[in-house]
Amino acid sequence: MNVIEAIQSRRSTRAFLDSPVERKSIEELLTLATNAPSAINMQPWEIVVVSGEEKKRLSRILVKRMRERNISCGPGATRPLHPKFVNRQRELLNCILPRLSAGTRFEEFINEGSCNFYGAPTAMIITLDRAFSSARFTDIGIITGYLVLAAHEIGLGTCPIGLITAFEEEIMEELSLPQNRQVIIAIALGYPDPESPLNKARSGRAGLDEVVKWRE
Ligand SMILES: Cc1cc2nc3c(=O)[nH]c(=O)nc-3n(C[C@H](O)[C@H](O)[C@H](O)COP(=O)(O)O)c2cc1C
Repeated sequence: MNVIEAIQSRRSTRAFLDSPVERKSIEELLTLATNAPSAINMQPWEIVVVSGEEKKRLSRILVKRMRERNISCGPGATRPLHPKFVNRQRELLNCILPRLSAGTRFEEFINEGSCNFYGAPTAMIITLDRAFSSARFTDIGIITGYLVLAAHEIGLGTCPIGLITAFEEEIMEELSLPQNRQVIIAIALGYPDPESPLNKARSGRAGLDEVVKWRE
């Protein structure tokens, strides 16, 4: 697969096989992804790889807290959004909803699924030293992009999980992370379930006329 094919064919995985991902494959993936560019080559990321019983325990705690605190996936906006953004969210819902088992609500699937890393055997938690400003979130975004594409190339599925930042305290405590770390995003990682209709969902993209402005 070349880079163009990887970019075009990757989509988030929301149904994983139980099979664990071998340490060697995770190391290969991280070796590839850490080629990502970063400001002044500081490589400000630190990635905590959580697998096996630890991952199951973490998921149980996050799902419990999510139910207790009624946390839900949202756009993270401080003001009402332009309708185009609302429409794009609705498109994602329309893409996933028909693939859920009868009676499952979209929000329930996304909220519980995110906290459970959609059943993936591994969760990667990407953290940043709190000494950095929010400018370094860009670096985390870039390595996240590298991770999801490199995983795709080596036959692994991923789903970025932003929802878990609502449970930063719990994650820090459960994984014994030092106080200077900030949890920015997680990535669910595993082998995609080839039988699941969820993994056949392909969310659309806005055309260039919507997202690009030309100045000449
Ligand atoms: C920063 C970020 C946070 C995300 N958080 C979540 C999440 O909490 N739960 C989830 O199911 N998907 C999450 N996603 C996945 C997006 O929903 C997905 O990338 C988007 O719908 C486009 O679909 P695709 O990845 O299949 O191309 C997140 C993606 C990004 C980039």
